[in-house]
Amino acid sequence: MQQLVIQGPSKWDGEIQIEGAKNACLPIMAATLLVQGEVRINNVPSLCDIQSMLALLKDLGAQAKYKDKLLVTNIEQDICSVASYDLVKKMRASILVLGPLLARTGFAKVSLPGGCAIGARPVDQHIKFMKALGADVVVSEGFVVAKAPEAGLQGCDFHFDVITVTGTENAIMAAVLARGKSILRNASTEPEVLCLIEFLVSCGAKIKVAESFIEIEGVSSLTAPRSVFTVIGDRMEAGTYLIGAMMVRGSIKVRGIQPGILEHVLDLMRQAGAEIKVDEDEKTISLVMKRRPKAVSICTNVYPGFPTDLQAQWMSLAAVSEGESLITETIFENRMMHACELMRMGAQIEVQGNKARVRGVEFLTAAPVMASDLRASASLVLAACCAIGETLVQRIYHIDRGYADIEGKLSKLGVNIVRQLQLMEV
Ligand code: EPU
Repeated sequence: MQQLVIQGPSKWDGEIQIEGAKNACLPIMAATLLVQGEVRINNVPSLCDIQSMLALLKDLGAQAKYKDKLLVTNIEQDICSVASYDLVKKMRASILVLGPLLARTGFAKVSLPGGCAIGARPVDQHIKFMKALGADVVVSEGFVVAKAPEAGLQGCDFHFDVITVTGTENAIMAAVLARGKSILRNASTEPEVLCLIEFLVSCGAKIKVAESFIEIEGVSSLTAPRSVFTVIGDRMEAGTYLIGAMMVRGSIKVRGIQPGILEHVLDLMRQAGAEIKVDEDEKTISLVMKRRPKAVSICTNVYPGFPTDLQAQWMSLAAVSEGESLITETIFENRMMHACELMRMGAQIEVQGNKARVRGVEFLTAAPVMASDLRASASLVLAACCAIGETLVQRIYHIDRGYADIEGKLSKLGVNIVRQLQLMEV
């Protein structure tokens, strides 16, 4: 196991390139199972989760090569319809192959992803939708087993009971080859879902996004687009570094991100005292923080609300801001585990249910801390960058799932950070 050793406090000044969005790449990779011919996808980040999806695609029979952010897949031959427990257990997002496998082969057997550190995370809505398309779906011996009817899947009008990102993505991928029209109501329209739709449309799918629903007109096949498809920038990675720059009262320019998809977060950053300039054409955001941040409360919500994937990082910011902030988590039931670790660094936080009251302190102090999930790890790394002394962030395999070369990027900004082997857990 590895750990990050960070010597704080640091002063950031510099530019970094934002990677393609992990949560857009994963469904697009799953969607390649639906497409005939060679698909080329660019701006794919070098992350453990991408490697896990790559391994899954290959196990299902895809030819896939990944080098220098370019992923090339070709799935001409017959594919296997069984996603094994060993591969799915590495990454929950593996459930994203359920829709494409069912649509392409009429059968899918995908290991049921369990709960995780941030919540139970059921997949009932994914299953309910496959049933609405006419599939026979059972959960048996830890697998979701779905079988299309003889006549094939039939489009349907469906209302999600809860707004779900991967549930919507799975539904779109299952409906895209079904007969007739499907309407998805109360569906997710996060930028990553729209990026998947853009990819599918470039392959010949007929999908329209209206204000309150997504309409899919089934087509008989999808063909690889002639040109390379480029994945959108990662708003969570960009948001993480911008929040970090605020905490250390530094300056940063992030490249490769459409500022518009972070609009609400940028507004809150301005309220906290950040000076921000955006350039939509150049896809850059520049931020300068000249003073101690002011406390700003947040409540997570679906897009365009405040993203749950930036809640932990905002809590770190609140920990060093002037005044008291209330952080409310509405998407996942157990996404406050970073609070206890931040408290070990001197943060003053009271957690009650899904709310955390944070009283900002002047400075945090270094301590060994342990990452519990991807975004929690990011919040600890940010806290370490502004804490006094040497912080060890342990269990960083979580961070490698979603942040490419975090130590390289932070070093470039001026942080004293090294990755080393963690010999023993404390
Ligand atoms: N939910 C259900 N039933 C379902 C599906 C979801 O009750 O069938 C509930 C969940 O338990 C949760 C809420 O609905 O309370 C929203 O969950 P959602 O399904 O939207 O989450 P997800 O699709 O599993 C994706 C991202 C997460 C991100 C969430 C919320 C990917 C691969 N993952 O997860 O990303 O937090 O949407 O925006 O897209 C991360 O990158 O760190 C991460 C966890």
